[in-house]
Amino acid sequence: MYHNPVMLNESVEALEIIADGVYVDATFGGGGHSKEILKKISKNGKLIAIDQDEEALKNAFVSEKLKLIHGNFRYLKNYIEYLNIGKVNGILADLGVSSHHFDTEARGFSYRFSGNLDMRMNQKAEKDAISIINTYTETDLCNIFWKFGELQGARKLAKSIIENRENSKIETVDELVNIVNAIYPEHRRNKTLSQVFQSLRIQVNDELKALEEFLMASIDVLADGGILVVISYHSLEDRMVKRIMKSGNLQGVVEKDMYGTPLTPFKVISRKVVVPKEEEIRENSRAKAAKLRIAQRIRNGN
Ligand SMILES: C[S@@+](CC[C@H](N)C(=O)[O-])C[C@H]1O[C@@H](n2cnc3c(N)ncnc32)[C@H](O)[C@@H]1O
Repeated sequence: MYHNPVMLNESVEALEIIADGVYVDATFGGGGHSKEILKKISKNGKLIAIDQDEEALKNAFVSEKLKLIHGNFRYLKNYIEYLNIGKVNGILADLGVSSHHFDTEARGFSYRFSGNLDMRMNQKAEKDAISIINTYTETDLCNIFWKFGELQGARKLAKSIIENRENSKIETVDELVNIVNAIYPEHRRNKTLSQVFQSLRIQVNDELKALEEFLMASIDVLADGGILVVISYHSLEDRMVKRIMKSGNLQGVVEKDMYGTPLTPFKVISRKVVVPKEEEIRENSRAKAAKLRIAQRIRNGN
């Protein structure tokens, strides 16, 4: 299976779909969420789906209501303008990588396999993990492991990578795993490897900057009353989603006008973050880290 969609019902119900409305699935993947949205819109409705991975586009299904775009969701506003759609009634983003990415050796996302250190979601992108590991300075590598993986001992790992690459280029998952395993005690290895691979993946795909641009674009693209639903899988993503939904800015600080009225582009619908039911977590290990947030576009603010 390409990907088992996470919190399918919760996320699609949160969109409060209007049959003739226009919706965006910003992360098409295996198309699980898209399929569910399509069931709820009429022939007058439309679904724009986006994925930056060409392999995901092979999951496309024939539907006159579906327009599938190969691209990065950070350009959401451009796509909507190009398609001459006006505003949309709802946007769903189910962030990060798909199970297909993790389960395909050649993509290099998982430390369980021994492929090349690729980690690009968009296989046409110039920068892969090999180029980062072999060209970034010790300080830059250390910052990536610390900022994007909260890795204890990030400096030591960065130093060891620099020493190892002086002997020969580091190209495969196995080579990186061996470097990590030589530094960290056995009981910390799995957690450490997850942190190292997550941080590299975030850097390769510029995930946080793309998410910020996407969230800001959603403010312009959503119609009044339109709904934004985001499922995230790690705290860096969730913090950004929470702050922008609360305030319309990265700092999460609500600005007010001269009368003290808050200038927020969204009303937060999910006061508390929504997490998957235990049953889903039992059946789908990927669901364990999932956090869903919902916000509604309102007229005041920008
Ligand atoms: C978790 S999967 C989505 C799964 C999907 N909801 C389903 O039901 O199958 C995330 C997908 O989003 C894509 N993706 C991640 N970041 C992206 C971005 N910035 N722009 C476009 N696609 C992105 C990935 O390639 C991946 O296919």
